[in-house]
Amino acid sequence: MDLLHWKLFPLLALLASFLFFFYIQDSSKSSQSGCSLFPHSHYWIASKRIVTPQGIISGAVEIKGGSIVSIVKNKDWSGKFKQVVDYGNAVVMPGLIDVHAHLDDPGRAEWEGFPSGTKAAAAGGITTLIDMPLNNFPSTVSTETLKLKIEAAEKSIYVDVGFWGGLVPENAFNATALEALLDAGVHGLKSFMCPSGINDFPMTDARHIKAGLSVLAKYKRPLLVHSEIQSLVESHLETKDGGGDPRSYSTYLKTRPPSWEEAAVRELLTVTKDTRSGGPAEGAHLHVVHLSDASSSLDLIKEAKRRGDSITVETCPHYLAFSAEEIPDGDTRFKCAPPIRDAANKEKLWNALMEGDIDMLSSDHSPTVPELKLLNDGNFLKAWGGISSIQFVLPVTWSYGQKYGITLEQLVSWWSERPAKLAGQHSKGAIAIGNHADVVVWEPEVEFDLNEDHPMFVKNPSISAYIGKRLSGKVLATFVRGNLVYKEGNHAFAACGFTILAT
Ligand SMILES: *[C@@H]1O[C@H](CO)[C@@H](O)[C@H](O)[C@H]1NC(C)=O
Ligand SMILES: [Zn+2]
Repeated sequence: MDLLHWKLFPLLALLASFLFFFYIQDSSKSSQSGCSLFPHSHYWIASKRIVTPQGIISGAVEIKGGSIVSIVKNKDWSGKFKQVVDYGNAVVMPGLIDVHAHLDDPGRAEWEGFPSGTKAAAAGGITTLIDMPLNNFPSTVSTETLKLKIEAAEKSIYVDVGFWGGLVPENAFNATALEALLDAGVHGLKSFMCPSGINDFPMTDARHIKAGLSVLAKYKRPLLVHSEIQSLVESHLETKDGGGDPRSYSTYLKTRPPSWEEAAVRELLTVTKDTRSGGPAEGAHLHVVHLSDASSSLDLIKEAKRRGDSITVETCPHYLAFSAEEIPDGDTRFKCAPPIRDAANKEKLWNALMEGDIDMLSSDHSPTVPELKLLNDGNFLKAWGGISSIQFVLPVTWSYGQKYGITLEQLVSWWSERPAKLAGQHSKGAIAIGNHADVVVWEPEVEFDLNEDHPMFVKNPSISAYIGKRLSGKVLATFVRGNLVYKEGNHAFAACGFTILAT
């Protein structure tokens, strides 16, 4: 460096610090250090279609300090307020709450991670997700492993994230261990009645589940159960030469018949009777995840509801969008458990959802790396089972639901209100005064092709069964606690989602 530069340097440094000072001034006044793409903390979101618990209104939602502080139903709001984002005819509704997502972080972040998974969630209009206790490593089954989850999530999530803990044989009969996990903030527990596919997450039986429910009762938190019981008679089909061409979807479908789901639900109902009012586990709740069998299994759940058991059930968009008949041989992107069944079953699932017998929807976003999907081999029996979907669930539900005449209010019920209730999120799930300003703005009528040109944020988009589909329903903007975290292909600079812990 020569002398001239040495003299200029302090001057430049001074100039730089001035610029920095004004930048800080400006950004502190507006967004908090890059958390939002919109530079105000007090503003109004206006639209002709705002979905509220009192119906769809034309008006504006006032947001201040991350919460909804007023809702004005007024055609003549313009000019009155200072900071208005007018979305015209686009739909403004509560952000989606996905109670069933596997973000695999820490330990298998190459499958999906907190940054990628929550960016994809935000791009799809999801403002809160509850992360499953498995597919990450180690599985979230203790206070120590929950701590690892929370540490991995902090400062790397674009939406709010809560956690389910695992109910496994190791902790099921240890009330001290379960209470510690619940005290540490998991929103409830999750268990499997069949092998989970993950070695450090072993399956549970009705005895474990009964013990788990009795602890959960005190906390009034739910147990989520993967409800399939392997029957020995049929499981030989999963061996390599037992049941025909492993590239054929029907071979895989036969390895996991509806009777597996039915057997599991039947067994569950022997313990859910404890959750009835006056029962030994009153206060606990059982939630059947990703129901695929819309026949006997669903009938049993309906019966249990009628007799007063505290039980709910979800299904997932892939069971509502696809049917076994249309899954090409070798296309393992469609492999999940329980499997996608035939078209008649799909029809029954839709009817059950419309009737209210299925309570809510979740993504069961369960991706992996492309190599484990065995896309080249196309071996359904060996490929990883799990559908990658978190970014697409809103347009998928909407698009495939058109045929059944679904409404915006139903979408909100299935994707926001009821999931909020299940996860104990009383300040979320509705456009209502006092709630978090968790909002999705989208255009139901706008169609798009899910191809390479579409901005995708999931880590391995090539394994998603939805790629190549034409969908209806474009997400324009996603707000989480008042921060505009996603807008037309772009995310906020900083990841400012909260880890939400049960108290
Ligand atoms: C129960 O869990 C606690 C906390 O993890 C542990 O210290 C204790 O050893 C466990 N008890 C049994 C009998 O395994
Ligand atoms: Zn799952």
